Amino acid sequence: MTNLQDQLHRPLRDLRISVTDRCNFRCQYCMPAEVFGPDYAFLPSDKILSFEEIERLVKIFVSLGVKKVRITGGEPLLRRDLPKLIERIHRIAGVEDIALTTNGTLLKKYANELARAGLSRVAVSLDSLNEERFFEMNGHRGKVKTVLEGIEKAAEAGLQVKINMVVQKGKNEQDIVSMAEFFKEKQHILRFIEYMDVGNSNGWRLDDVVSKKEIIDQVHQFSPLHPVDPNYKGEVATRYQYEDAQGEIGVISSVTDSFCSTCSRARISAEGTLYTCLFATEGMNLRELLRSGKDDETITQSISNVWENRKDRYSDERNEQTMKKRKNSKIEMSHIGG
Ligand code: GTP
Ligand code: 5AD
Ligand code: SF4
Ligand code: SF4
Repeated sequence: MTNLQDQLHRPLRDLRISVTDRCNFRCQYCMPAEVFGPDYAFLPSDKILSFEEIERLVKIFVSLGVKKVRITGGEPLLRRDLPKLIERIHRIAGVEDIALTTNGTLLKKYANELARAGLSRVAVSLDSLNEERFFEMNGHRGKVKTVLEGIEKAAEAGLQVKINMVVQKGKNEQDIVSMAEFFKEKQHILRFIEYMDVGNSNGWRLDDVVSKKEIIDQVHQFSPLHPVDPNYKGEVATRYQYEDAQGEIGVISSVTDSFCSTCSRARISAEGTLYTCLFATEGMNLRELLRSGKDDETITQSISNVWENRKDRYSDERNEQTMKKRKNSKIEMSHIGG
């Protein structure tokens, strides 16, 4: 077992791999349609890591301490034959958990195949149960009904399901309680996410954030809650259990209550760049290393060096100055994978 640690003594445990920068939604907070329009230059297929390349990288990352792998995008289910990639990752000794973050529109089609391939969990994004508001938030692309059908199908296939709701002031605050009520009944874990300043396109303002405290107050009024311990060290969501039922919710509070001190996550973008923070402005080109014929040992050493030098703690340090410094130079969410 490796003792690899970064500059803040954080180990490397989670690998988040984006498999495409494309999405069939245009959520305003992630890929606003004005920016990601018909002329937007998405990555050409030869610039995207192949399944062989991803598999090789996962093996290397496992040798450095990674235990959990999460597949992200864009919308990862737009990547052709995704279950085949899951199968490859599932076969790697040392990978204890494989999860997928998706908008759910294609889950109905793929849930069974994904579960058979070895996927354990899905996190499905859903920002409202109100068709009109959901349509507005996803850039007029998808229906609540489709996502709910996908969620049902995933649960039936035996996948553990979590729901992610990004809360944005003036957009879907009014849906906090109805979402809590609905998923309490369904017994799926609902996580509320504070709207974050990821990328440069969404026009983020602090005033648009609904804080963890405001969210918890609302849900608590609907049905009393008490905080519970994290499931594992470094869990992103703070957990709360309902007093009168088994169910729980989570809040991901990167803005008002950051969690960098335990961050053990590395991210690989679809074109194979390694980033050590969601708010990074630059990364290391792994694709180049892979395609220039470097052996595993050399690549392992390069990744090791990057991790050992890592100092990222953007959410802890977020203030006007750090925001200004990164203005227009952060990586877009659809690229780095969330
Ligand atoms: P679990 O393995 O179930 O705990 O999943 P997760 O919460 O790590 O993953 P998921 O993809 O569901 O992430 C939910 C939200 O948390 C997304 O909006 C992510 O962008 C955000 N998030 C995940 N990791 C980080 C992180 O390291 N920093 C910040 N600031 N946000 C993160
Ligand atoms: N702030 C917070 N969460 C976001 N997501 C995408 N963009 C943002 C943002 N700006 C969420 C998605 C998905 C997860 C991967 O990240 O809704 O659930
Ligand atoms: Fe697509 Fe997810 Fe981004 Fe929405 S948040 S545009 S569903 S990648
Ligand atoms: Fe990790 Fe960066 Fe998020 Fe902090 S802001 S938790 S360092 S990804």
